[in-house]
Amino acid sequence: MSIVLDKKSKEDEIFDSTLRPQKWEEYIGQEKVKENIRIIISAAKKRKQPPDHLLLYGNSGLGKTTLAHLIAKEMGSPVRATSGPGLENAGDLVAILTNLSDGEVLFIDECHRLNKTVEEYLYPAMEDYKLNIILGRGPMARTMELKIPHFTLIGATTRPALLSPPLRNRFGATFQLNFYEQKDIEKIIERSSVLLNLKIDKEAIKVIAQRSRFTPRVANRLLKRVRDFAEVEGDGFIDKETAERSLDFLEVDEKGLEIGDRRLLKAAIEKFNGGPVGLQALSAAAMEEEDSILDMYEPYLMQLGFIERTPRGRMITEIAYQHLGIKNPKKQNNLL
Ligand code: ADE
Repeated sequence: MSIVLDKKSKEDEIFDSTLRPQKWEEYIGQEKVKENIRIIISAAKKRKQPPDHLLLYGNSGLGKTTLAHLIAKEMGSPVRATSGPGLENAGDLVAILTNLSDGEVLFIDECHRLNKTVEEYLYPAMEDYKLNIILGRGPMARTMELKIPHFTLIGATTRPALLSPPLRNRFGATFQLNFYEQKDIEKIIERSSVLLNLKIDKEAIKVIAQRSRFTPRVANRLLKRVRDFAEVEGDGFIDKETAERSLDFLEVDEKGLEIGDRRLLKAAIEKFNGGPVGLQALSAAAMEEEDSILDMYEPYLMQLGFIERTPRGRMITEIAYQHLGIKNPKKQNNLL
């Protein structure tokens, strides 16, 4: 069981929509990104034109979808949301684009997973607000040009490098969402606690924030689990001890590492002497898919400085050894 690292579930969606900031002012952190986006929106409003297409990238759970909804709100536009895997064929995209109205926002999550054909339909739509629809097959095929409303595409991705250059180049601006600061995660937990009517003290908020991988979605998930624990084991009040005990019980450690993170680090230490180890070999040894290592584990472990990527492969750092309480034989050799 993974408390923090699973992909977004249905339950999360309901939970997220309860807690999702409804106003720009409620969106905590990512100040620079917010400032830049607000300038783009106000300038577009002044020109009475839809803003450029925007690409948001960053690890999952950092609030890309939330931000996209807030951007649409700020523009006073409805938002149509879909995802790369959800647009299975060009027909799906054509149906959405031809049903938009002027100024509307189309949000495409996981846009690195759009298939090639759909992507190719998207290029002229983004650039010139038109679609080149192919009618018929073979020598009788005809192309028909269809004008579509002036929309703004907001793309979100965890893996910007996987976007094809023509798609990437059609976004007018690209923004990276970073891990949050501890103080911002604390504010997010405090806000969620109020919305969920929880009784929780400042110290408990600190503990949960410390173990939240600097990620709002994780913070909200942990808060939910701690709440369950406090309701079953006590009177529902969440103090520091309750928070610590429940998170220890869930095996989320002081740095927010879960069983899967520790298994990954230990596989690299025990089977490859701490590295360097290639992604494929690490994936086999830890029995984790390469994509899970890249998307779920590694970004946070690198942020902590527990893993370093070198040209020869991944290296486990001394501080990771210390955190796991494992002696680093390489360090001893250095000292001798
Ligand atoms: N939920 C997800 N991201 C958030 C943020 N940046 N501020 C407040 N709540 C959030």
